[in-house]
Amino acid sequence: MTAAYQRLGNSTELNGLLFKYKLAKILTFLSLSAVVIMALASIVFPDNVYEIFEKVAKANDDENGIGNSGGIKTATVCKLPTRLDIPGTQDARYTPPSPDVSLLKILQQVPTDEYQQYCQHWDPVYGFDDDIPYNVNGECGNWQKRYEDLHSQRMEQLERLKAGDFESFAHDDKPRYISYFCKKVPENSNRGCGGLADRMSGMISTFFFALLTQRAYLANWAPENPIPLEYLFEQPFVNWTHKPSELKLIFDVPDNELLGFQYVDTLNQNYDSIGKSVFPDGPSQDFEKLWNGTYVEVHSNRGYIVRTFDQSTRYTEQLQKMGLTKENAFGCLTDFLFRPSVDARRFLNMYRYLFSMKSVLSIGIQIRTNDNALANPELDHNNLEQWYYYIKCANELATAKRQSYHTRTIFFLITDSHKLREEFESMNNDEDLRRKYLGPGSEYTSLLVTGLPIEHVEPDQVAKYIEVEHPRLTSWERMVPGVNSALMENWLLSYTDYRVISPQGYGKLAAFHSKRDKTTVSIPRSPRRAKAMNCANPDVMDAYDFSWLSHQWSLG
Ligand SMILES: *[C@@H]1O[C@H](CO)[C@@H](O)[C@H](O)[C@H]1NC(C)=O
Ligand SMILES: *[C@@H]1O[C@H](CO)[C@@H](O)[C@H](O)[C@H]1NC(C)=O
Repeated sequence: MTAAYQRLGNSTELNGLLFKYKLAKILTFLSLSAVVIMALASIVFPDNVYEIFEKVAKANDDENGIGNSGGIKTATVCKLPTRLDIPGTQDARYTPPSPDVSLLKILQQVPTDEYQQYCQHWDPVYGFDDDIPYNVNGECGNWQKRYEDLHSQRMEQLERLKAGDFESFAHDDKPRYISYFCKKVPENSNRGCGGLADRMSGMISTFFFALLTQRAYLANWAPENPIPLEYLFEQPFVNWTHKPSELKLIFDVPDNELLGFQYVDTLNQNYDSIGKSVFPDGPSQDFEKLWNGTYVEVHSNRGYIVRTFDQSTRYTEQLQKMGLTKENAFGCLTDFLFRPSVDARRFLNMYRYLFSMKSVLSIGIQIRTNDNALANPELDHNNLEQWYYYIKCANELATAKRQSYHTRTIFFLITDSHKLREEFESMNNDEDLRRKYLGPGSEYTSLLVTGLPIEHVEPDQVAKYIEVEHPRLTSWERMVPGVNSALMENWLLSYTDYRVISPQGYGKLAAFHSKRDKTTVSIPRSPRRAKAMNCANPDVMDAYDFSWLSHQWSLG
């Protein structure tokens, strides 16, 4: 982990960052002064205010390349800048680039009142509001405080165990822990612990187990695999950081009632094997008896949350009392443990507030083409014609779901092909292309993308079966933006009203995270079957329980 941090901290880069930070501070001061001047000026020369301000802002931008590009925010007026920059919060581990231009284009097309509300979240200093509310109205249940208390009690007990102070446990209940560990780096035919979706399935199911068995939950990704978990996520409520090797050493000793280590590996198990691993006694399975070591270390890329709701007879009442359901559990547990870092949240909110507008019907489209497009961009020949059946499905879905208050439909594309993403976005400016692919809805449909860098989370994995013509080094500088982009696009996909996805783990993660059952359509792998599908038919919507969502791949 230290090695990794040091790489970022080399001195020229650090100086560059410091310089940018200072620059941002100066600009911020200038912009704020401009706002004050503008407010004063508006009293004296009301008509010229915008013009004067825009000139000031433009001068700033021309000189420095960043800034508020003509944005205005006062108590009475709000106008977004011509570029939504995220200058970078001090100490942020990662700062995304500005969102794609398609975002601002669409914001020009929404009703004025919603534009004004949106604009209030724009922050002339930091770029945008970073607040993503959690469980404000109890939609995620009532277990959070109880778990936080348990977690801190267990951590306090851990300190006593580390110190060998066993006598003090006479009146305690037996402390218990469960950790998720993604250690295995892919090698040869072994897939390691998989990509983002596989890992999230394992991590969240392990926490689900912890909640049902009064265990403290801890999590770790081996630091170079590809970046430490702490580098990707903040910890909004509980601190799950630990050192796996240290804990193993403490607990892996025989003949001590308070200690004991258990290794659990469910990597790559299929639906039937997970059934045997997690419910060996059938529906009445008691999880306390399943993995009973004091400290259990889980290696997994498989989920069993939906399955527990469907099959367990023991936990029905307990889960209901906690306020957890088949529909909300995955998303509510995920957001409790893991929060994207501060500047990533600013980026997310730029899109999230657009998706949440009442006048907007948002449909996410996730097209996984193939690893080849990523490995060899010069051989990327993907185009709209080839993947048209995804758009066709989105068109049908839009027609079926549009309500009278929807004045704009947004198709939001996530893909691993730069070519496809560019052609998709070009429909915004090309009426003929739009009419060709979007049909009758083309006038009120807008095309949205993030513009974030596209990287495979496991580049070495790809290199094993694809000849990479211009191999690039797997570096920290490349993986931090790559992994963050994969995460942010996935979170954004979960915020759309509906989703049309490729049948793999990545889209499924967003489907579960959305906390809304039957709002996702997975496109069959066979183009022939996909083309024959009618997405206006409500039966094509995947249900969490009966579809491949919870029965295949990383399960559910
Ligand atoms: C979490 O705990 C670890 C080790 O126990 C500590 O180093 C780290 O600073 C803590 N993180 C936060 C955000 O408090
Ligand atoms: C854990 O379960 C095994 C198998 O059921 C049992 O033999 C063992 O005694 C249990 N250990 C503890 C600490 O409860």
